[in-house]
Amino acid sequence: MAERKRTALVTGASAGLGVEYCRQLAQRCEVIIAVARRADRLQVLAQELSGVCEVHCIEADLTTVEGVTRTVEALRQKGPVDYLVNNAGFAPLGQFVETPLHEQRDMLNLHCEATMTLCRAAIPFMCELGGGSIINVSSLGALVPSKGLAVYGATKAFLNYFSQALQAEVAADGIEVQALCPGYIRTEFHDAMVAEGFERERIPTEMWMDPEAVVEASLSALGTGRVVVVPGEGNGELARAVLASQLEDFQNPAV
Ligand SMILES: NC(=O)c1ccc[n+]([C@@H]2O[C@H](COP(=O)([O-])OP(=O)(O)OC[C@H]3O[C@@H](n4cnc5c(N)ncnc54)[C@H](OP(=O)(O)O)[C@@H]3O)[C@@H](O)[C@H]2O)c1
Repeated sequence: MAERKRTALVTGASAGLGVEYCRQLAQRCEVIIAVARRADRLQVLAQELSGVCEVHCIEADLTTVEGVTRTVEALRQKGPVDYLVNNAGFAPLGQFVETPLHEQRDMLNLHCEATMTLCRAAIPFMCELGGGSIINVSSLGALVPSKGLAVYGATKAFLNYFSQALQAEVAADGIEVQALCPGYIRTEFHDAMVAEGFERERIPTEMWMDPEAVVEASLSALGTGRVVVVPGEGNGELARAVLASQLEDFQNPAV
């Protein structure tokens, strides 16, 4: 019988963290299923990784039922997957009442519904395999609520809670679940925010990380039993300080 090829499915594989996940997972897998809307970018990635691993490019808009269904089909036909990386994401910056509701709904569908559906599709196969790894790319914004990113932070908090509870449910099947909570990363993510007044230069240089370091931190945390992973020392300190102050508010209800 032919030996099974280790396989990863990565969403948002046309840019930033997603491209880097594909590059680093290509060292662990024989097959990568790369999902995004920009098919031309996926082809460039496939070209880059040719000779390293097999890449299947799936053009899909994961805010739509049709796009998610196509991705689930790919997971079933090209899988089973050993790694599922739910990474695709975006953030419409702006006050909640001033931002079009359809953009917020698209984000909710992409971050929460697509992730939930892909986990639901992948887990039974991982159980049959006797294990697997799921990485849900969340954000430091899940732990540190920010003005102008109310729904974004809430979708990422969903991913943290979902990942933690899911880990408890699937641990006995050898499956590990991670909610990765990065801070600022040098990718295309903030490009659209610039038009809304975001200024990269106002963020201290030391707070920015490169995608390579973030993905390395994520993959090296697999197998350690940590579910919520905050890459970068400064980000870890910030998360601990915010959580400690929330705990203090909870313990000393002033009103
Ligand atoms: N960069 C940061 O500072 C930062 C910080 C914390 C968390 N994150 C999280 O990290 C993840 C990756 O972001 P990034 O920094 O790598 O941003 P990026 O460079 O803008 O890449 C985003 C990726 O998501 C894909 N995507 C967006 N909308 C999609 C849709 N409707 N359907 C399918 N794919 C879609 C994009 O592909 P197409 O446009 O080709 O579809 C692209 O591949 C996101 O979940 C983000 O929330 C980023």
